[in-house]
Amino acid sequence: MAAVKKSLPRRQFDVVVVGAGGAGLRCSLQLAQAGLSVAVLSKVFPTRSHTVAAQGGVSASLGNMSEDHWQWHMYDTVKGSDWLGDQDAIEFMVREAPNAVYELEHFGMPFDRNPDGTIYQRPFGGHTSHFGEKPVQRACAAADRTGHAMLHTLYQRNVAARTQFFVEWMALDLLRNNDGDVLGVTAMEMETGEIYVLEAKHTVLATGGAGRIWAATTNAFINTGDGLGMAARAGIPLQDMEFWQFHPTGVAGAGVLITEGVRGEGGFLLNKDGERFMERYAPQLKDLAPRDFVSRSMDQEIKEGRGCGDGSYVLLKLDHLGAETITKRLPSIREIAIKFANIDPIKDPIPVVPTIHYQMGGIPANYHGQVVTRVNGQEKIVNGLYAIGECAATSVHGANRLGTNSLLDLIVFGRSAGNFIVSQHPEREHSHKPLPDTDIEASLDRVNRLETRTSGEKAQDVANKIRVAMQSHCGVFRKLDLLKEGAEVIASLVPEVQDIYFSDKSKVFNTARIEALEVANMIEVARATTKSAANRLESRGAHALEEYPERDDVNWLKHTLWFSEDDRLEYTPVRMQPLTVDSIPPKPRTF
Ligand code: FUM
Repeated sequence: MAAVKKSLPRRQFDVVVVGAGGAGLRCSLQLAQAGLSVAVLSKVFPTRSHTVAAQGGVSASLGNMSEDHWQWHMYDTVKGSDWLGDQDAIEFMVREAPNAVYELEHFGMPFDRNPDGTIYQRPFGGHTSHFGEKPVQRACAAADRTGHAMLHTLYQRNVAARTQFFVEWMALDLLRNNDGDVLGVTAMEMETGEIYVLEAKHTVLATGGAGRIWAATTNAFINTGDGLGMAARAGIPLQDMEFWQFHPTGVAGAGVLITEGVRGEGGFLLNKDGERFMERYAPQLKDLAPRDFVSRSMDQEIKEGRGCGDGSYVLLKLDHLGAETITKRLPSIREIAIKFANIDPIKDPIPVVPTIHYQMGGIPANYHGQVVTRVNGQEKIVNGLYAIGECAATSVHGANRLGTNSLLDLIVFGRSAGNFIVSQHPEREHSHKPLPDTDIEASLDRVNRLETRTSGEKAQDVANKIRVAMQSHCGVFRKLDLLKEGAEVIASLVPEVQDIYFSDKSKVFNTARIEALEVANMIEVARATTKSAANRLESRGAHALEEYPERDDVNWLKHTLWFSEDDRLEYTPVRMQPLTVDSIPPKPRTF
């Protein structure tokens, strides 16, 4: 294909939402229902977005099955975050949670039911009653397909609200004017290879996580950090990227997720001696301690020679729950175990290992979804740009997310960003601001360099090098030398990314072109992760550093900001003051 021409087709919308997972769809629904023109771009059909893979539940202190309060949920989330979560955003999220869930129920989401007709709730890691006393039933569940139920419900509602979907479109770059306002995106229609300018008064990034920068992950192939790459290239920092969550129970050797809901229903982990080892590590919460804690305990068991089989995994036992509970509450888990581990969990335990699942960091945003950058040491709102869901650091998850707080984050902040944009809309000018050519040309140049290159590196080879480097340098337990080496290896791959080419230049559904564009985003995420991790000299949440095993609130109770342009780090304070209640001060994190 010849170099792309400069005059590009243009479309104008009030709002462009990039990503059609739970956050994007919840946001677009709010906007479309308010009468705004909304374009939602997605690399895949919306109901195939990664939210569809979320299994165990969405948290809300409904108290349907045991006493519960939003204050308990707030305490658990702050403690779960190892005090790196912003307490204003956390209070906002947990207080909104019951309404956000009831709203889904009224939209028709098929939750499991209790005999009295209320929503079924199961226990989940780190969710407790009475400020840490014992597990509480807070995860509102649709069997083990909660994300699937949520995504389909939101998609149908969006269709009814006349949201415009751009299916199999990949957003390329943010477009800014000289004041730094974001005025839309460039995007590629994958079917034709054509590039468009989509002008928008508001641009919402809802592109999900970037777990595909790792070799072993529960994430879908689409999770390549596209929104993060776009933000980083546009000069916006990425926040707290050193914090990546290992989900304790990925199927060994396959990486597919086995929901924590298994342990919520009463399953537990065993080492090779048949010992329920979590009782030693977390005497109170046991297998329902937060994920960072359980993953480290599993890794420890394996390292100390108590792994099962060839020594590289532990076992998740659930046969004692009985066939009826497993087929009713955990049907997908059974299917996954049979397909990916050749194990029927009604009879035998599932081999599991901690597997990369979630990024706690992302594009810095406040609880209205507005992206916040830092200029000359001062916070500054990026006009016209919003980030929600996993691609955003809002920051409610801090250094470690509690299971089921992710689906909650999607619907609460998707809705809140939608409401904020609607509230802004009448006051803002109704015409689109003039869009200078500079960013459009830079975006086109980026694609043209790819199109015209006739030799160089293959995208998948470079992607695999990134994955191997991340997997071998940033594990459950981290070492400073290894992190520094990881940062160097990733930095050394930048020229290879710039040298990527593909031989097939055809335009129609050319997945080689898409993969090449994705690797340009992956490298930004990997750079941010390794650089941020190699410079945080403490252990907090998912960042467990051998040389600095303790949390250090004196020096490190602060967010990391990484800037791509000069590979620079800055730090910004954690927001310790909630909206209406007293701050929850840091204390030792035991379970
Ligand atoms: O274990 C799970 O079902 C995953 C839930 C989550 O990541 O929130």
